[in-house]
Amino acid sequence: MAFPRNSLAGFTLVLALLPLCFSHYLYPQFYHHSCPRVEEIVKSVVAKAVAKEARMAASLIRLHFHDCFVKGCDGSVLLDSSGSIISEKGSNPNRNSARGFDVIDDIKTALEKECPETVSCADILTLAARDSSILAGGPEWEVPLGRRDSRGASLSGSNNNIPAPNNTLPTIITKFKLAGLNLVDLVALSGSHTIGFSRCTSFRQRLYNQSGNGAPDLTLDQSYAAQLRPNCPRSGGDQNLFPLDFVTPAKFDNLYFKNLIAYKGLLSSDQVLFTKSEQTMQLVKLYAHNLELFFQQFAKSMVKMGNISPLTGKRGEIRKNCRRVNTNN
Ligand code: HEM
Ligand SMILES: *[C@@H]1O[C@H](CO)[C@@H](O)[C@H](O)[C@H]1NC(C)=O
Ligand SMILES: *[C@@H]1O[C@H](CO)[C@@H](O)[C@H](O)[C@H]1NC(C)=O
Repeated sequence: MAFPRNSLAGFTLVLALLPLCFSHYLYPQFYHHSCPRVEEIVKSVVAKAVAKEARMAASLIRLHFHDCFVKGCDGSVLLDSSGSIISEKGSNPNRNSARGFDVIDDIKTALEKECPETVSCADILTLAARDSSILAGGPEWEVPLGRRDSRGASLSGSNNNIPAPNNTLPTIITKFKLAGLNLVDLVALSGSHTIGFSRCTSFRQRLYNQSGNGAPDLTLDQSYAAQLRPNCPRSGGDQNLFPLDFVTPAKFDNLYFKNLIAYKGLLSSDQVLFTKSEQTMQLVKLYAHNLELFFQQFAKSMVKMGNISPLTGKRGEIRKNCRRVNTNN
């Protein structure tokens, strides 16, 4: 009896380990020999850009998110339109909104000088997001590396997979689930709205006609709403900017969660985390009261988001220019 059971166990173990021999994992030391100064170089370019404009930290974190939610973290968001490629930059979430592409170009240029055709644009985005968190006062973490770049983009993926600010909570939860992220990841990662800005057009609906009955969103503090209206009128001013966290707009802290408890979340997608589910409400309260826990979970969830279906091994390519696929192969 013992023999067949053991051999079955042994066989099962071999079967379970087999994929390890063939698949390629992301790991922090990926460029240890091929580009030992990669982290230093990315950090120095990001630091310069953030010193010039604090908002760039927010923009770079968001760019990584918009990359990962479309075909995985493969640098697809960086491609310009050309040939058969229709750029994701024109999608609803990105148009007049996604920014930081020049900073990614500057990093790529510096890295091509140091170690040509070695570091992927997808890895650059991941490292830049981590460095941005640190520079804004947020947590740090080790970044698994070894992603490769896509040879295509997906405009429809960008339009459909990235949540919209007026999506319902169930829709947002579904979009995160499709990316392999759970409720804890959703609440923690939404915490990056503790920095950066939103345009009027992304939350105007809440100020005037939230449910199509001509009434504002009553889960938005009405004195805060009154402060927002002058620069976000019923029509016009679409591109006017408002801090996502009006208390400490450039500091990566947990004021975002405290604002939600005070019904002063800017986007509907922010406020629903507190008003539409007991589970997410408890997480909002937890992170509002415990900065350390928020930071720990944010770091974990950023690594998890960065691991969404990477291209590894021989799949994809290392782009020479993050805006274009390589043509000579
Ligand atoms: C939960 C669903 C989410 C929705 C509906 C959402 C939506 C938005 C919207 C509408 C804006 C303002 C864009 C504009 O008006 O130009 C924004 C900004 C931002 N988002 Fe999100 N977001 C979500 C999750 C995330 C996640 C997961 C991250 C990163 C981990 C993130 C990071 C940011 C940052 C940092 C900004 C500010 C960007 C800047 O100032 O350039 N967001 N988001
Ligand atoms: C959400 O906003 C979009 C773009 O402004 C709009 O077309 C759509 O009708 C809104 N959806 C809901 C449910 O309000
Ligand atoms: C509110 O939105 C609904 C549906 O989109 C529209 O029919 C109505 O005219 C709007 N009301 C106001 C006061 O803007």
